[in-house]
Amino acid sequence: MPLPIETERLIIRSPSFEDVEAFHDIMTDERVTEFLPIDPNASIEESRRRAERRMQHEVAHGFTLWTVVDRATGEIAGACGFFLVEGVGPEIELAYHFSADHWNKGFATEAAIACLRFGFEELKLGRIVAMTFPENFASRRVLEKVGMTLERKAEYYGRDMVVYAIEDPNDISAA
Ligand SMILES: CC(C)(COP(=O)(O)OP(=O)(O)OC[C@H]1O[C@@H](n2cnc3c(N)ncnc32)[C@H](O)[C@@H]1OP(=O)(O)O)[C@@H](O)C(=O)NCCC(=O)NCCS
Repeated sequence: MPLPIETERLIIRSPSFEDVEAFHDIMTDERVTEFLPIDPNASIEESRRRAERRMQHEVAHGFTLWTVVDRATGEIAGACGFFLVEGVGPEIELAYHFSADHWNKGFATEAAIACLRFGFEELKLGRIVAMTFPENFASRRVLEKVGMTLERKAEYYGRDMVVYAIEDPNDISAA
């Protein structure tokens, strides 16, 4: 697997137990979790379990929510990658979240573009979806910026979502 993926400002690499503290900080920040269809991590043990699930997902399927590192500082900025929709598939979902002090620097867009390219070129995916709460305007903007198309509204994870999709790697934004 040709990981890590390196972009101009980011390194996207497999998750590890070393990430648990940073992951815990991000997943207990309500500014981040208010837009995710899961409860905030309740404890560092839960963060460790969820990090382990990310690692197991990569072993099982070849992709997961990878750890995104800010190359300039070495800090963990967030996570970006792929998951089986609702944990079962068959559709594959692009997902991401970043710590609030790294927002609005274009990191999610840069990471998502790199992951989409990886998804088509290395993982040979034919179609990638992404879903978000309708009121998550920052995420919707990211999905538009990377070249995904709004397809429909639907219920996923027990919530009303807007669903975006991309099937042609030529639609990935060059930005
Ligand atoms: C969504 C999220 C990943 C975006 O990360 P980011 O690194 O700040 O994204 P980018 O900087 O690449 O792009 C954000 C875009 O949204 C815009 N934006 C930010 N807040 C906005 C808002 N409230 N309304 C409308 N647009 C907004 C920014 O201006 C930017 O667009 P622009 O480049 O055209 O100016 C980040 O906010 C986050 O982690 N949120 C919590 C978790 C989450 O929602 N994950 C996605 C679940 S589907």
